[in-house]
Amino acid sequence: MTRYSLTIIIPTFNEIENIENIIIAVSGVLKNSGIEGEILVVDDDSKDGTVDCVRELLKTHPELSLIVRPDDHGLSQSVVEGFQKAKADIIQVIDADFSHPVELIPKFYSAIKDEGYDVCIGSRYTKGGDIENWPIKRRIISLGATVFGRVLFPEITDPVSGFFAIKKEVVYDADLKPRGYKILMEVLGKGRWENFKEIPFTFRDREEGESKLKFSTILDYIGQCTDIGVYAFRHRETNVWKEWKKVIKFGFVGISGIFVNTGILFALTEYIGFYYLVSAIFAIEASIITNFLLNDYWTFDGGNNSRMAKKWKRFVSFQVVSVLGVVINLAVLFILTEFIGLWYILSNIAGIFVAFIWNFFINRNFTWRR
Ligand code: GDD
Repeated sequence: MTRYSLTIIIPTFNEIENIENIIIAVSGVLKNSGIEGEILVVDDDSKDGTVDCVRELLKTHPELSLIVRPDDHGLSQSVVEGFQKAKADIIQVIDADFSHPVELIPKFYSAIKDEGYDVCIGSRYTKGGDIENWPIKRRIISLGATVFGRVLFPEITDPVSGFFAIKKEVVYDADLKPRGYKILMEVLGKGRWENFKEIPFTFRDREEGESKLKFSTILDYIGQCTDIGVYAFRHRETNVWKEWKKVIKFGFVGISGIFVNTGILFALTEYIGFYYLVSAIFAIEASIITNFLLNDYWTFDGGNNSRMAKKWKRFVSFQVVSVLGVVINLAVLFILTEFIGLWYILSNIAGIFVAFIWNFFINRNFTWRR
């Protein structure tokens, strides 16, 4: 029996227009790159001739296998069944419709095998990535899904990509609950992984056949994100939990800043005799400094992993983000009070909330970016 070093899972449903070409293309890439790869088609009992076509190709392609699933249909379910049946320790997932460039497969393989990454993600949104031929509606849905996904995985630009590779051990024993289209989110939320790499690619919308994405797929996705969030609270070792821990710490630091701010405002005004607005400027700056020191030391591990090696650079960045955060807070307060007629206290709470999200995300992905 051949010892495969890579399993390429191709989930299919009614792909008669593409199936032969994609198998020939993937097979060609394997041959040219010298990778001992298995091609595993996981089909949901298509009635358009896809299954017969693969059966015919099985005769001439020893590296090809086929699973036909009579029930519990679904893209994610099919990919998970592929995980279970994969013969190799490295697994690649790719669409059948040429949306994903097959020639990148060796790059993914090498990122895992040679560079040692646990997960390698084809990204449309990282530098160099792109999308071709997408109608505006599809772009908006995808962007919404990506933004939602980044709440759980802020460092990953395309956590909903269908083009990715993993070490098999990432999903070994993982409590995956496959549903909908976003199997990568499930893998990232419940699998065991330490590091990841993103490879930019241009997503080309299918030329043959049509997307099977339905409205229920979007609902499935929302349910899936909630489930991953709840799972993170129950199983504290996941990457999502590590991320939430930062959000919570950042929140506590923010609250400590309110005390510093109020204390200094009071002390300067009452004991030194400063005009209260002058005291407020000192109070704001003091709380920015203490917030920075606490976040740098506690929330983001001493800034050790930040790309900004110098502490003063992180401080300048934090300072600018904080000042802009104050501007955002004031803008929301003003707009909600003046134009929507909301009570100013409620508007201010909304402003604090929006500014908090701004502060966390920008600092997380810039000041303390790894
Ligand atoms: N087995 C199986 N069962 N395969 C399916 C099913 C299903 O129910 N539905 C779709 N597929 C297969 C298709 O045959 C194709 O190979 C692949 O999954 C992608 O299907 P499309 O319907 O073309 O997907 P899409 O273009 O809307 O979505 C792609 O892009 C998304 C990112 O925007 C996929 O790659 C998604 O995984 C990805 O999230």
